Amino acid sequence: YQTVIGYALKIIGKNNEQIFESFKTSELSYAWCGPVLCFHVDRPEDFQAILTSNICLKKAFPYDFANSPNGLTLSHPRIWKNHRRALNPTLGQKMVNSFLPIFNEKVEKMCNLMERKLNNDIDIYRFLFNASLDSVVCTAFGFNWSMQNSRGDEIHNIITLALRCIQNRIQKCWLWWTPIYKFTQNYTWETELFRKFYQFTRATLELKRIDLSEKLDHEENELAAAKNGNRQNFLQKSLQLELEQKWTEEEVCQELDTLLVASIDTTATALYGTIIMLAIHQEYQERVVDEMREIFESINEPVTNDHLKRMTFLELVIKEALRHFPIVPFLGRETMDDFPINGGVIPKGSQIFLNVLRMNKNPKYYGENVNEFYPERFLPENSANFHPYLSIPFSAGPRNCIGERYGWASMKIALSHILRRFKLTTKLRIQDVIIEPSLLLRICNEDAIHIEQREWK
Ligand code: HEM
Repeated sequence: YQTVIGYALKIIGKNNEQIFESFKTSELSYAWCGPVLCFHVDRPEDFQAILTSNICLKKAFPYDFANSPNGLTLSHPRIWKNHRRALNPTLGQKMVNSFLPIFNEKVEKMCNLMERKLNNDIDIYRFLFNASLDSVVCTAFGFNWSMQNSRGDEIHNIITLALRCIQNRIQKCWLWWTPIYKFTQNYTWETELFRKFYQFTRATLELKRIDLSEKLDHEENELAAAKNGNRQNFLQKSLQLELEQKWTEEEVCQELDTLLVASIDTTATALYGTIIMLAIHQEYQERVVDEMREIFESINEPVTNDHLKRMTFLELVIKEALRHFPIVPFLGRETMDDFPINGGVIPKGSQIFLNVLRMNKNPKYYGENVNEFYPERFLPENSANFHPYLSIPFSAGPRNCIGERYGWASMKIALSHILRRFKLTTKLRIQDVIIEPSLLLRICNEDAIHIEQREWK
């Protein structure tokens, strides 16, 4: 392995993109960041070894700054194992199938709102964010609230700015020590943003509690009915475990906070990235629309599970968009014991950063056209030799994305409705798209998509 001594000094004062650039030196390197030993990997075989190992189930320490230590994304494997097992069915295939009518309804509503802006350049990401929020609140929490309005905008601002504060702290190692951090403006902003965010999640929780306790007197207890049919949503399951005193109130709150952050921005950015690519590459947009014309009789026909299975070209397009825009651009793990890899050993307590963005842009794996948008690369005949851990937008192994099925279904439904109703164009070229690889990837171009009514049939 190549030793990179004093790496911390090299990254101080650099922005995210420069830090990612500076990792271009070797495939497996390590560096001391103060007292912390950090490893960097970007090969699919190393990803596989790390993501499938029980020694690497713990998340890297910078995630500790994200304030929800007991939510699924960050919790210690001891807590995580039991929570993950309990929550898996709430986002499993059976539940996702039952969510399809909601996804259809929320996306139709979004398209109606977009229609008011016909023949304009719009910030489509905002629409996508609010529709994702609307869907998650309805499917995972069971509230049919209207979120595609200023309420959604407010949650969007809170989540985006809070993520930026956390990212800021991670990048500046002198802010890692909390007594120093507390003196900064960043801390003041972060505290205020989290206060507002908690107001929303705690109020949601309280309303559900009231809702349920009112129903307790009736024969039909919502929790019991859902439990018996094994069709509890995320919030019902969490509350049931709290009632049974298996989870604390704080654990339930943190699962809620985590789910909101993990599900909405991710789905919205993935959709935005796909839409930008389709707007730049009109020939691919037409091919996806042709696929929709084969599948659907009408412009507004709701998407069913059978339709989803037939959207095979759209699936390639989304995979290729997620290669260009990996929503979680790097994964971080901490070794819980000495971890043997490639004939060497990563010592216990080290931090490992798995650089997904760099793996996705490596010509060694994807060939000379690596920077082009070429969905056909994922056709079975072209990807037969790909390493199974090369394309992992939802991560892989036991700590992969719990919302993968949910994400696929909601993205395909959203794109199917948007593309049936609108023709999307942009002035951007692929090289003009600016990304910020933070904790979650951000696409910085705003007002980039022009929408027109599409001629259907
Ligand atoms: C296109 C959309 C999405 C992408 C690309 C995505 C990607 C990911 C990735 C890469 C991870 C693993 C992070 C790591 O290993 O450090 C993850 C974890 C997670 N995701 Fe997603 N995600 C998406 C949508 C969703 C949705 C819709 C939900 C929930 C409804 C969700 C909930 C979660 C949760 C709770 C975790 C933590 C899982 C655990 O540690 O057990 N995600 N996601």
